[in-house]
Amino acid sequence: MLVLEKITHRFRDNLALKNISGTADRGEVIAVIGENGSGKSTLLSVIATFIKPTSGKIYYNNIDVFQSTKNVNNYRRYITYASEKVKFVSELSLKDNLLYFKNLFNSKKDVFEISKQVGIYDLLNQKPNSLSKGQKQRLSLAVSLLKEAKIVLLDEPAEGLDVETKNVVKEIVKELKQDNCMVFYVTHDEDEIEEVCDKIITLKEGTLKFFGSVEEFWNIYEKFYVVTYEQSGRKITKVLNIESLKSLQEQSDIRILHIRNLGLREIINMSETDGVSTTRFNEG
Ligand SMILES: Nc1ncnc2c1ncn2[C@@H]1O[C@H](COP(=O)(O)OP(=O)(O)OP(=O)(O)O)[C@@H](O)[C@H]1O
Ligand SMILES: [Mg+2]
Repeated sequence: MLVLEKITHRFRDNLALKNISGTADRGEVIAVIGENGSGKSTLLSVIATFIKPTSGKIYYNNIDVFQSTKNVNNYRRYITYASEKVKFVSELSLKDNLLYFKNLFNSKKDVFEISKQVGIYDLLNQKPNSLSKGQKQRLSLAVSLLKEAKIVLLDEPAEGLDVETKNVVKEIVKELKQDNCMVFYVTHDEDEIEEVCDKIITLKEGTLKFFGSVEEFWNIYEKFYVVTYEQSGRKITKVLNIESLKSLQEQSDIRILHIRNLGLREIINMSETDGVSTTRFNEG
């Protein structure tokens, strides 16, 4: 189990994370959502131990991660972070790059299987510089999956990619869950959350707005819909709750053109009931 205890991080005079507490278990996929600059990447960097929190603690299986260098190093063996910043060896083919990282991680995972999983199997004889942006992103993902990690940190792994690649990521997340990994998944794609995630962390300006299960989320927040309809030749768009939507649908003089669910982030912003959160925090 991973416990975050009052994690605060300050970049000079900028408080990027304020008192973040919560717990995550193995086999759980945790979506991390929030606006640009809300602290998502900072939170993942703290969990990855790339940066040390200004205050607060992380416990992994009851061990205080930042207590000593030994603890940090031990914990790092269980972590993998998918990042576009992976430096590939430009002289080596994709296959040899993957073998290089496999060796570096001392991993028993199968390079060919992972290549198939992320869809770069046909590119294995090419060199990294010949890849498109999306293909490079798939390669980075392959590298991070090579490590036999228990905690997988994915910071917008499918950002700006095609639908196919997004689905690849979604399937990988599901498999990681089946393998009992804990996955932190930063995404702006809120449709994915209910399909693949167990818990949600919502950040706003470094403050935790919600940390709990998807179920708990819907116990607290009401669902809303963005409805576009036509009435007397006029096109109207409104945000409605389920009751208002139903009564609208019963009106004979309107024609509904489009309905979409309001995103989780939008719902939180709308209800702005400060202090509403189901943060669970286990001491020690
Ligand atoms: N290395 C850094 N040095 C100084 N300030 C930083 C640094 N990294 C992030 N910040 C600041 O911390 C805050 C949180 O940034 P962070 O990158 O965590 O946001 P984010 O939620 O990941 O945003 P995005 O959706 O744009 O990726 C921002 O105000 C940002 O300017
Ligand atoms: Mg970010």
